[in-house]
Amino acid sequence: MIKVLLVCLGNICRSPSAEGVLRQQIKAQGLAKRISVDSAGTASWHIGKSPDPRSIDAAKQRGIDISELRARAVCSQDFADYDYILAMDEDNLSELLAMAPDSSRAEIGLFLSYSSQASHRVVPDPYYGGDEGFDLVLDLVSDASQGLIKHILKQHTL
Ligand code: 4NP
Repeated sequence: MIKVLLVCLGNICRSPSAEGVLRQQIKAQGLAKRISVDSAGTASWHIGKSPDPRSIDAAKQRGIDISELRARAVCSQDFADYDYILAMDEDNLSELLAMAPDSSRAEIGLFLSYSSQASHRVVPDPYYGGDEGFDLVLDLVSDASQGLIKHILKQHTL
């Protein structure tokens, strides 16, 4: 099983949206027994909370239910458990690199590095903005999810 952890700041907007989208694509490609996905935040403010209602609504409009997800914080065990730990933006990435123990076996990077589009390098935080920000998050993470699945299929004999 290849294990992917998607990380943002609060784990209530970007990374749960990305988790829902990537999981849907994994299922649609019949890979659910081979690739697993979870998400977490670098901050602990929202632990135990549901995704932001705006993220739930935007995902629902694309047929993806993320309402059951609950926020958690990244922990040191994650660096032993996951193959890929992918950040939504540079701040999240810096936090991950600072937290990673020397024994980390995870590939740590930016999620959008797997995207085919060069328009965005990071997933902008939609928390303080309008609804269009939440749709942009879904567009960006859909593209990166496709790229990540292709990468995993190429790199690993599943
Ligand atoms: P996320 O968005 O990192 O995509 O989950 C945020 C959620 C909450 C806050 C900031 C960003 N906040 O400041 O509480």
